[in-house]
Amino acid sequence: MLKKRSIIGSGAVGSSLAFNIICRLDIKELVLLDISSDLAKGVALDLEDTRGFLDFSTTITGTKDFSQIKDSDIVVITAGVARKEGMSRLDLLKINAEIAKGISYKIKKYTPNSIIIVVTNPLDIITYVVNKETKISRYKILGMGSSLDTARLFNLIHKETRLSTSSFGGFVFGLHSNDMIVSMRRIRNKEEPIYKFLEKNKIKALQERVRYRGGEIVGFLKNKSAHFAPSLSCYYLIEAIANDKNEIIPVSVLLKGEYGLKNICMGVPCVINKKGIEKIIEIKLAETEKKEIGKIKKLFKECMI
Ligand SMILES: NC(=O)c1ccc[n+]([C@@H]2O[C@H](COP(=O)([O-])OP(=O)(O)OC[C@H]3O[C@@H](n4cnc5c(N)ncnc54)[C@H](O)[C@@H]3O)[C@@H](O)[C@H]2O)c1
Repeated sequence: MLKKRSIIGSGAVGSSLAFNIICRLDIKELVLLDISSDLAKGVALDLEDTRGFLDFSTTITGTKDFSQIKDSDIVVITAGVARKEGMSRLDLLKINAEIAKGISYKIKKYTPNSIIIVVTNPLDIITYVVNKETKISRYKILGMGSSLDTARLFNLIHKETRLSTSSFGGFVFGLHSNDMIVSMRRIRNKEEPIYKFLEKNKIKALQERVRYRGGEIVGFLKNKSAHFAPSLSCYYLIEAIANDKNEIIPVSVLLKGEYGLKNICMGVPCVINKKGIEKIIEIKLAETEKKEIGKIKKLFKECMI
């Protein structure tokens, strides 16, 4: 049984994720780490005080000392600078890549057997950096992005059709950026393709809106980015690992030939269980999707220069 989770970065996403974990999973220890130790400590104490309502036995630690993450079974990386208004995810690249390098070194030192979930943006690049720096098996490094994009699309479809999202299936994949691949042919309501429930002009509008959903939210929040849906999306990955669910969830993973791509991280459907990624699923691509993947290859290379 999995017992210890560590969350690196105790800001909006990290603290909200921690709250989801203690509300829903019974674990022995939860470590919140932040370069600002006062922040991590404050969040830990606040979370601890929910014990009187939730009656959990989890020990919660707030710290800036990386040795405290020792022997975690899952480490989540949410540390970094969040996107501000007018900033693209790629603008964050340089700052967050340096932060991710430092954290990778500490994970390797203190808890090399952990499964790592990356949340920090630009998601696919940071997932790549963590792969390169830790040299841990790619099956143990999961980037959370496409599952959030999928949830966002499901919400937007619901608002248009009033259909319950619980009957939706399928996924958005590719990069967690404006260049994500939103193929409506992959989204179903029970057995029926979702486009049957939508007018043609709405389909295009929804595809566009989901691509820019993160930016739309930042536009309103100004100096911070979304955290409720991102932390829940991350929580569901943790639950799939903790409960050995063998659930198909799109995660960013280092590709080594799958989809004709090498040395690139992007969101693709994977079977998730207690090992992390059990299997990378290669779906048969439509011609339009192949073209979009070609674009991703170019974009990813440009970012790595
Ligand atoms: N993948 C996704 O779908 C998704 C969704 C939302 C946000 N994000 C990303 O997640 C990251 C966190 O977002 P947030 O809203 O929680 O930001 P935030 O600013 O609220 O929190 C980030 C925290 O990281 C800490 N930090 C910075 N460097 C650190 C280091 N070296 N070690 C430990 N802690 C460090 C900061 O002190 C801060 O408290 C951002 O990069 C954001 O873009 C990703």
